[in-house]
Amino acid sequence: MATEDDQMELFSAIAANPKPAAALDPNFDPELIPTSAKVPVLPGTYGSMEEMSLHCNRCHRCDLGATRTYAVVGRGNPQAPILIVGEGPGQNEDETGLPFVGKAGQLLDKILESVKLTEADVFICNIVKCRPPGNRTPTQDEMDACRPYLLEQIRMVDPQIILLSGASAVRGLIGDKRGITKIRGEWIEWEGRLCMPVFHPAYLLRNPSREKGSPKWLMWQDIQAVRTKLDQLQQASANAD
Ligand code: URA
Repeated sequence: MATEDDQMELFSAIAANPKPAAALDPNFDPELIPTSAKVPVLPGTYGSMEEMSLHCNRCHRCDLGATRTYAVVGRGNPQAPILIVGEGPGQNEDETGLPFVGKAGQLLDKILESVKLTEADVFICNIVKCRPPGNRTPTQDEMDACRPYLLEQIRMVDPQIILLSGASAVRGLIGDKRGITKIRGEWIEWEGRLCMPVFHPAYLLRNPSREKGSPKWLMWQDIQAVRTKLDQLQQASANAD
């Protein structure tokens, strides 16, 4: 049985983990692309993440479409019980088309691993699918333009728990403008779904202390609460069968 220190130790280990680049479908019909934020993306538009990815890779609903290499749609299990929402792709993500593959992503994987959550348990995506230049915070207009894609992802994954990683994820999905320090660790019900705001892993990289009360220590409390909640929900649905 791993001790708490062993598990917290996982938060520090960063492994190199290169991922393959995303491919585009040569049969894609450009006529179907929503090129403006005025064109609605209706619920039920997409049957799979792959279909959505084709649109996202040609999307110009906001100016981020002009500077991206790849749109970053998601990774993990599209039927996962937990959906994790970050802020937006960075350079590594823009170049590979996969979310959270840089240092912050490697730390996120370690945090999940510390409570035995694997890629089968999560689907990871972002509030905006294209990289904001210079890794700046996405604007409200950019988050609004991209929101229908996130709503489609929530519909398709149908997660039991949504982890909102960082203030932009909280603001972009549920519109709560409070600072992440104020609301992290608090279960919030949104549209009948359970959401938990947590620190963004990039913030944890900038705050390496693991002292009691530090951001990393708080993250450790929050991820354990998520694990416990998932176990309870899965036990309840097993009992109902
Ligand atoms: N930070 C994010 O919020 N998302 C990513 O995909 C990578 C870094």
